Amino acid sequence: MKIDEALDLIAEIPDFPEPGVLFRDLTPVFGDAAAFAAVVDALAEAVGDVDQLAAVEARGFVLAAAVGYAKGLGVALVRKPGKLPAVAGRVDYTLEYGTATLELPVGAVRPGQRVTIVDDVLATGGTVAAATSLLADAGADVRGVAVVLELAALEGRAQVPGVPVHALRTL
Ligand code: PRP
Ligand code: HPA
Repeated sequence: MKIDEALDLIAEIPDFPEPGVLFRDLTPVFGDAAAFAAVVDALAEAVGDVDQLAAVEARGFVLAAAVGYAKGLGVALVRKPGKLPAVAGRVDYTLEYGTATLELPVGAVRPGQRVTIVDDVLATGGTVAAATSLLADAGADVRGVAVVLELAALEGRAQVPGVPVHALRTL
């Protein structure tokens, strides 16, 4: 399947998770074998020459796991709070709708490792900015962000100045 055909499966859900938010639902992309493969292949090209991937729980994990397998790379698993026995760093951040906290496990990255963050959606950029700061604090060299969908009106890429953002589709 061509990448544009795969991305055309993204659905629009008005007023979710709260009134006034137009939620882009990637569930049909994840659920279709050909679309999922097209997206994973395109992300694998987009991540560039790095030593490690990083991803944020939960949807980011699905993509990064597949991309990591395709590229022969491991994945640093950035977690929602309260899941980790040994926390290297913790950061609170703002979402399009609400606030959240992320934690990086001890040993997820090595100092100097070149890392690309993989995620499904770049919205306000709060998530990738939080992940970038956690990874940088642990000594990683964050070289890029690769996402399926960028919601340009929310100007998320401005939250990670100097980090190239590659989006398969920008809306
Ligand atoms: C979504 C999405 C991104 C993030 C984008 O995750 O998967 O990680 O929000 O938003 P931002 O650019 O405004 O930070 P969510 O926290 O909803 O978690 P989920 O993957 O567990 O559904
Ligand atoms: N879709 C999916 N995830 C999101 C969105 C969205 O529109 N906004 C923030 N995270």
